[in-house]
Amino acid sequence: MSLQRLPMRLESLERVTVRDCLKAARLPRLESQLLLAHVLGVSRTWLIAHDDAELESQQARHYLQLCAKRELGQPVAYLLGQREFMGLMLEVNPAVLIPRPETELIVTHVLEQIDAQAPVTILDLGTGSGAIAIALAKACPAAVVFATDVSAQALAVAQSNAQRHEVPITLLQGSWFDALIGLDCPKFDAIVSNPPYIAKDDDHLLQPELRCEPAIALTDGGDGLGAYRSILASAARYLKPGGLVCVEHGFEQAPAVSGLFRQAGFSDVMTLPDLAGLPRVTAGSYNSEIR
Ligand SMILES: C[S@@+](CC[C@H](N)C(=O)[O-])C[C@H]1O[C@@H](n2cnc3c(N)ncnc32)[C@H](O)[C@@H]1O
Repeated sequence: MSLQRLPMRLESLERVTVRDCLKAARLPRLESQLLLAHVLGVSRTWLIAHDDAELESQQARHYLQLCAKRELGQPVAYLLGQREFMGLMLEVNPAVLIPRPETELIVTHVLEQIDAQAPVTILDLGTGSGAIAIALAKACPAAVVFATDVSAQALAVAQSNAQRHEVPITLLQGSWFDALIGLDCPKFDAIVSNPPYIAKDDDHLLQPELRCEPAIALTDGGDGLGAYRSILASAARYLKPGGLVCVEHGFEQAPAVSGLFRQAGFSDVMTLPDLAGLPRVTAGSYNSEIR
């Protein structure tokens, strides 16, 4: 591991410089810089400008431990305890999925479809770190935002992130719409979700980084479409007339997910490509009211 590539042994870390540390790690430059900046509490720019600065041995040891964990496959976001989403820094830990850039597409699409200044009502199902709900709440100051998750640990992270960004979100525990049972909640202008969508036998689940994330955030334990079936079967009852449902899915799932939207009576069903051009998000609206 990277320890052995340092120009000195662990016991003699007294005179290690920023340059030594960055050279020693067997990691992409960006990753070693992020880890070292985190340990020192400085920016990456500071590291570049101070590459001859010496670390305290405690700091060097901490950095080496993080490098070793990273080399074993732990995601950088978990090591840093945070990840940026829509320009917002969010706390993350192994109880939540690390928010992905492609999920920002849900937020940008919903913002194009609603009046961000109006008191719209929004529901985020399977909120995890709270990424989508918090980004929408930030962009829509008058919105009433509900967010659910089946995982109490994930909801604790979402709660902490909502507080950090000072957005009032109602967080509820339960499976999909069950979390709303018995509550006097409004009908929604938009229901969003990035549910677990990897099929249980998909090899992607074996990737070292995914193995660090909670299985419940990744797979439905079936064919990968279970969450869409559950959500779309009930969504209309929770929507205002003309309300929108917008979900993320795997890049090969667009035809199946669009089919489920149409089967459930949604119209204007459209699939949007992510930054890599892959079909990633499907949305549709429901035009009548179900009481
Ligand atoms: C792919 S993660 C998405 C997290 C977050 N929305 C994001 O985009 O980063 C899916 C989330 O759905 C939650 N989840 C899984 N099964 C659920 C269920 N039956 N009901 C509600 N939430 C569920 C998981 O705990 C996880 O937080």
